[in-house]
Amino acid sequence: MTQDTDTEGSNTLPNLTLDFEYQPEQHMINTSRLFYQSLQRRRSVRDFSTKPVPASVIHQALLAAGTAPSGANRQPWHFAITTDAQVKANIRAAAEREEQAFYNDRASQEWLDALEPLGTTASKPFLEHAPVLIGIFSQKFSYASDGSQLKNYYTYESVGIACGMLIAALHQAGLATLTHTPSPMKFLNNAFNRPATERPYLLLVVGYPSEGCTVPAIGRKTLTQIASLVGETEDGWDLEQSQP
Ligand SMILES: Cc1cc2nc3c(=O)[nH]c(=O)nc-3n(C[C@H](O)[C@H](O)[C@H](O)COP(=O)(O)O)c2cc1C
Repeated sequence: MTQDTDTEGSNTLPNLTLDFEYQPEQHMINTSRLFYQSLQRRRSVRDFSTKPVPASVIHQALLAAGTAPSGANRQPWHFAITTDAQVKANIRAAAEREEQAFYNDRASQEWLDALEPLGTTASKPFLEHAPVLIGIFSQKFSYASDGSQLKNYYTYESVGIACGMLIAALHQAGLATLTHTPSPMKFLNNAFNRPATERPYLLLVVGYPSEGCTVPAIGRKTLTQIASLVGETEDGWDLEQSQP
């Protein structure tokens, strides 16, 4: 990128010429179709192989997640990685404690009914079997170079977008994930050695599916169920006629 604007003496960042390439329409149609077809095969996996995964794939997927947009560009996320058997065992023990209380007492009947089709229980062996656990933390504050505290904005939304990009990047690289939210998750600060000012956002379980792994036969909403078209428009935009 090249620098275009002189902003000396102000806090405004210099502007760079955007690195953007127009692509032929047919290529855009094909790549968006292939991307959708790939993501359509992503499933939450709860039965992992112990096979190790390449560290650089995880590192690159995290760098991809770190390109996410964020409120006021605060990048209010932290990804704590572990492959350590003892750390994973501790996380499993703490998660199962919380989940037992959740399934036995804390969860409303409505919530339990919503989970029933998925067949999830308080037992979480995948937390030890999967080769990698990533604790994702949101940061309510950032720190300036002089150590002063800066408020972050739209923290929850920003971290959610980064997580979506991370899950997509790991899937695209050939790994399986489970978005896990043992409730409550405060024990993750201790497990991942993170300060109390950070809020555990979710625990991402990463690895390869076990041989013969099965997943619940969920459905996904159609385009017309998740999208609507407003106002007059041209041919090709009709959601019902769309053939992705
Ligand atoms: C924010 C969030 C929290 C979730 N928490 C859990 C969880 O704690 N345990 C679990 O087994 N699955 C969890 N899931 C996975 C969902 O059950 C799963 O995404 C959903 O059933 C759709 O299945 P799919 O991911 O295979 O498309 C969570 C998903 C999201 C997005």
